[in-house]
Amino acid sequence: MEQQTLPLRILEGKDSATGYISVASGKGGVGKTLITINMGRILHSHGKKVLLIDGDLGLSNIHLMLGITPAKNLYHFFSGGASIEELVVPIEDGFDFISSGSGIRELVNMPFGKLKTLIMRLQEFAEGKYDWVIFDTPPGIHSDTIAIVSSSQMPIIITTPEPTAIADAYGLVKVMNSSEGLKEFFLIVNKVSSEYEGKKVYESIRVVCEKYTTAEAKYAGSLRYNPKLIKNIIEQNPFSNDLIKELNQILSRLSLVQKTSKESFWEKLLAKLKR
Ligand SMILES: Nc1ncnc2c1ncn2[C@@H]1O[C@H](COP(=O)(O)OP(=O)(O)OP(=O)(O)O)[C@@H](O)[C@H]1O
Ligand SMILES: [Mg+2]
Repeated sequence: MEQQTLPLRILEGKDSATGYISVASGKGGVGKTLITINMGRILHSHGKKVLLIDGDLGLSNIHLMLGITPAKNLYHFFSGGASIEELVVPIEDGFDFISSGSGIRELVNMPFGKLKTLIMRLQEFAEGKYDWVIFDTPPGIHSDTIAIVSSSQMPIIITTPEPTAIADAYGLVKVMNSSEGLKEFFLIVNKVSSEYEGKKVYESIRVVCEKYTTAEAKYAGSLRYNPKLIKNIIEQNPFSNDLIKELNQILSRLSLVQKTSKESFWEKLLAKLKR
């Protein structure tokens, strides 16, 4: 892939430690997995080491989009004692992913003790090794999602212009703000017909957030509806130059929310899951 020319603000001012990004939505099917994968590709094309983690325990789909069937997933970690290293699937050198397995009921609502072991192993494995860890999450207000998103330095929420997607995005923010003190998030409006439409959607969310929550909505940008993407998905090649170009502009606008507390992403996540 050609090297992107725009400087990415997301890369500026980042200390050497691993950065954590989460991609979430209230409503399903808004483009989280597609955006996660392509975002990883962009950061990797800038020479960064990237790990994608499928945060949808038991119903993941990063591997389906990539057309890769991992030999082992989180189910093997929990049931068969597989190590984290055995779960890691390389997409390219320095660009990896971990699948949480698809259609595995045992992975839904895991007891805290088991999640704690997973989180500690993931921390040992990923912290310092990758520049960026990006979590793809399931839609909605599941407690695991809320914990991941509110612990990450860069919480990204995706919506489309559909009223139901907008309402559910706001619903997710409201819950994260009231229960986890989420103070700010970045909004990407996907499947828009124009930048104007994207900004209008952002404005409607910004206004309700300002009125009813203490969370600030930051506009990351919008991505056009692109009918050609369906072909990419069917062919299990989720990398699209059109999408990468637009997403690159978004990443060039995002700046990393620097850690203010001493607590690491993993410590925050553990504390939140414990509750
Ligand atoms: N900008 C776009 N233009 C056209 N189609 C898109 C666009 N973004 C995503 N899609 C399509 O929307 C569908 C859903 O995308 P994706 O699986 O990434 O969403 P998701 O939010 O991860 O879904 P889920 O909530 O089920 O995990 C896919 O078929 C994808 O090709
Ligand atoms: Mg998905």
